[in-house]
Order: sequence, then C-alpha cells, then structure tokens
Amino acid sequence: MKEKITKEFTARFGASPTHVVRAPGRVNLIGEHTDYNDGFVLPMAIDRAIWIALRPRSDRRVLLHSLDFGDPADFSLDDIQHKKGWTEYLRAIAWVLQEQGFSLSGWEGVLASNLPLGAGLSSSAALELSLLKAFWTVSDFNWDGAKMAEFACQADRDWVGIQSGIMDQMISSLGQENHALLIDCRTLEFNLLPLPKQVRVIILDTATRRGLVDSAYNERVAQCRTAAEKLGIPSLRDITLDDFHAKADSLDELTQKRALHVISENERTLKAAKALQKGDVIAFGHLMSTSHISLRDDYEVSSPELNIMVELARQEKGCLGARMTGAGFGGCAVALVEKDVAEKFAENIRSSYQEHTELQPNIYICEASNGVKVLD
Ligand code: GLA
Repeated sequence: MKEKITKEFTARFGASPTHVVRAPGRVNLIGEHTDYNDGFVLPMAIDRAIWIALRPRSDRRVLLHSLDFGDPADFSLDDIQHKKGWTEYLRAIAWVLQEQGFSLSGWEGVLASNLPLGAGLSSSAALELSLLKAFWTVSDFNWDGAKMAEFACQADRDWVGIQSGIMDQMISSLGQENHALLIDCRTLEFNLLPLPKQVRVIILDTATRRGLVDSAYNERVAQCRTAAEKLGIPSLRDITLDDFHAKADSLDELTQKRALHVISENERTLKAAKALQKGDVIAFGHLMSTSHISLRDDYEVSSPELNIMVELARQEKGCLGARMTGAGFGGCAVALVEKDVAEKFAENIRSSYQEHTELQPNIYICEASNGVKVLD
C-alpha cells in the first residue's frame, strides 16, 4: 500500500511525498456499548487501514485526492464550509484543530484505503486519525494520542453531527502490534495487553448493513442516560451488578434490560482483561460468547444474520468464543480461534454461512497492528 500510494502521489504531483501516514481500523474484542457509559472496552487495531501520502504547501490550501472515496477535497483553512461526502471529515478535523487554537499549514496528498466502508471496522475513525496525523506532520503542535482521539470525537459531534463513544478513535490512535487495549472510557487511561500466540482473531463480516444503526444507537444512548438518572448515578459505570439487582425495580422493564447489558458488560470486560493477562483464552472466549447473548437478548442490537454467524462460528472446532462486534444491526462478528485451525475455520464458516443465508461473507484472519503512525 505504501508503494502504491507513493506512486500515485508522484504521478499526480510530479515529486515524492514528504510523509506517508497510516491509521488502522479496529475490531472490538469485548466491551460493547459501554464507551458512552464511561465504561470499559477492549478493542485491537487491525491490519487494514487508511494511508495518506502528502507534502506541505506554502499556502493555506488543503487538497486531498482519494483513490477509493470519490471527489477530491479542496478548500482553504481560512474558509471551512460544510460539504456532503467523505471530505466532510477533513473539514471537521481542520475545524477542530483550529478551534483548539492550533495554527495549521496547508498540504496536498493522496489517500488510499483497504478498510471496507460501513462494515463496522471504524473506517471513519481511521480516516480521522490519519487526517490528524497528516496535519501534525506539516504543522507545529504536540501529539498526545488520547487528546487526538478526543479531538476526533469532538469533530464528529460538533461538526459532522454524529454521536459516538470514544473507543474507535482511541484504538486507531493508540493500538499496538500484537496487543489489545483495555481502555477506561471515563479517564482515558489505557493498558496494553499482549494477545496470546496460540489464538487468532477472526472477523466475520455478515455482508449485511442496516440503515437503522444511527437511530437505534441514539435511542440506546438515551435509554442508558435515563437508567443512570433513575438510579441516581452519573453513569451506568457507577454501579455494581449486585447493587443494580437490588435497585432495578425502580426502572421499567425495557430500561432494566438495557442497563443490565451495560453493567454486566463492564464486569465481563474487566474479567476478560484479567483472563488475557493470565493467557486464559478459554475464559476469554467464554466471556465473548456471553457478551453476545447479552447484546442479543438484553440490549437488542444484534440481527438474524449476526446471530447465525455467531452460532455457526461457535459450532466450529477450535472456536473459543464469538460475538457480534461494533454497533450491531448488521456488519461484523468476531471470533477467537485456536491458531492451528484458523484457516480451516475460515473456510468452513464461509461455506456454512453461505449455505444458511445465501449471502457471501467476508472473513478476515487478522493481526493486531499499530495505531496511527508516520511510516519510515
Ligand atoms: C460504534 C461506536 C463506538 C461504540 C460502538 C458500540 O462503533 O462508534 O463508539 O459505541 O458502536 O460499542
């Protein structure tokens, strides 16, 4: 990819780029719908990413061609206007950095991606982090990985108008090769946890996408807020499962179910982190599978295809656990599989899922990769 994009840059601009940056997508291993509840998440950065080759300009123009997303972005840092499409993210990042008081320089570049769009692998967080890094290479400001993730979230919320938690931006910023990252979404403290060598993480894309995601996501955010208010706590992070059971009667049945997922998922995530530290992949896999049941039955963000995918995965030899991953309603599941049978697992699940649904899934056996970086 680096070679490809450098070539493209040279063909367009008649010189080599001064920098190439890369920002990865992510898969969340456990800790779903907990980030906007100040809770815990345990994602890893994957070996699919967005690349930008660029060089500085002497004026304040920003010009970015994309090999994958459509029309180029071309605007002045002195006049940032809203515009539909992928370039809105570039405007959002330029806006947020200037809003924070950073003085930016213009640049020109070419972008390429091998992250599937809208599959729930966080292509937009990867885009935001690659753009933040691109601005950083040509401007003069300090890089703080967690702060950058916060800026990307602010850009989403206040410029693009999208509600999300901070997980995707944190992991695209701070991931590390061969590691998962336990993130405390309240304090933004994080802990790198090595992934045991005897397992592989496999992404199972159901080849379904649901338009419903945004409205259902916002609805869940609101339900969690209501639950916390009624329980008299700042957020669902602030109550143990035992205390919740004692007080749950004050909530209506639906709100109880939503809260139960979040509170139990936080406990599972912390247990999963401990299991990973001990190299206990059996316990980890089991927690993943329990997480799926909670997302399916209590949080109700799964889909028939995701449920089929998870069931089929769990029936395969060497599968230690499986669950839907990301916001839900379609997109991807993730499985933890013994390394020796990973290829066979991928092959089997491809054909069994197709047999059951007549859909062609995408299966990625993935490596945990580094967060956003300027490449050498
Ligand atoms: C989406 C959001 C994340 C997180 C997940 C659910 O991916 O972007 O912030 O809330 O859903 O865990």
